[in-house]
Amino acid sequence: MKVIVLGGDGFCGWPCAVNLAEQNHDVIIVDNLSRRKIDIDLEVESLTPIASITERLSAWEEIGGKPMRFINMDISKQYQKLLNLLIDEKPDTVIHFAEQRAAPYSMKSSFTKRYTVDNNVNGTHNLLAAIVESNLDIHVVHLGTMGVYGYGSHRGATIPEGYLKVEVPQPDGSRFEEEILHPASPGSVYHMTKTLDQLLFLYYNKNDLVRITDLHQGIVWGTNTEATLKDPRLTNRFDYDGDYGTVLNRFLMQAAIGYPLSVHGTGGQTRAFIHIKDSVKCVQIALENPPKPGERVKIFNQMTESHQVGAN
Ligand SMILES: NC(=O)c1ccc[n+]([C@@H]2O[C@H](COP(=O)([O-])OP(=O)(O)OC[C@H]3O[C@@H](n4cnc5c(N)ncnc54)[C@H](O)[C@@H]3O)[C@@H](O)[C@H]2O)c1
Repeated sequence: MKVIVLGGDGFCGWPCAVNLAEQNHDVIIVDNLSRRKIDIDLEVESLTPIASITERLSAWEEIGGKPMRFINMDISKQYQKLLNLLIDEKPDTVIHFAEQRAAPYSMKSSFTKRYTVDNNVNGTHNLLAAIVESNLDIHVVHLGTMGVYGYGSHRGATIPEGYLKVEVPQPDGSRFEEEILHPASPGSVYHMTKTLDQLLFLYYNKNDLVRITDLHQGIVWGTNTEATLKDPRLTNRFDYDGDYGTVLNRFLMQAAIGYPLSVHGTGGQTRAFIHIKDSVKCVQIALENPPKPGERVKIFNQMTESHQVGAN
């Protein structure tokens, strides 16, 4: 298949692109390299040294990988360029990772709040509008998050996959049963943008029959896949700073230097996790099993384990 990977230079996008190229798909990476610029602004860096995108791509080819192309584009701002790309390349699938994904960063200041909303919501909307304008039947696979359901409000109940059966009281006293999107409960500006993504998907699927798979994954942990371990220049990110470092990475670093683990709030938080190797496989399975024409947005909850930090 021909696949465009939006955000293909990022933590989830890079190993996913490499995996798809290894599976013999034709891969085009689109990224504006904003994540690398945020590292410079925050004066932090990945523990693993990250090669430039040009070096990564040539290393991949040198070890015999199927060549991938790279296009530098801001999908939240360069609508016409995105539309032209879809029309010229006619991809079967677009995988959408191109969002600002750190909850703490999204809450830092009014600048980071506005940036996160403008970037994420415009990026997703531009993609959907461009697919409709291109008149092409392109399957969108989006990496969503378990965080859209909210944390801590389910009291141990199993969270249904994306939809909830409800009974709507009718004027004649009867009850009409329907399935609605599971109520959203965002806990940060970042999570709010992911819940807005869900509404955009609902609308464009219903109105324009865009085929969409939304993967609600837990926190993605681990660094490399077998493919990104083949050459040090292919290595993936390991972030451990206060904004982009997820809880496991921060705990690992604190444990490694013998520093007490920093538990925020009162503790007791439970989070779902999925390893990067499983995350890229889930994306591949979604890509190879698109929804049928006219099918509603497919939503899957994907995690392999959950962990809880001790309460104080
Ligand atoms: N990392 C996780 O634990 C996790 C868990 C669940 C879902 N997700 C979702 O997966 C996606 C990717 O997350 P990640 O951890 O790889 O983040 P990341 O920041 O490492 O990667 C995102 C990539 O998208 C690019 N990008 C951002 N805005 C762009 C724009 N407007 N135009 C073009 N490129 C743009 C960035 O430069 C970066 O390379 C996000 O949507 C995130 O919500 C991540």
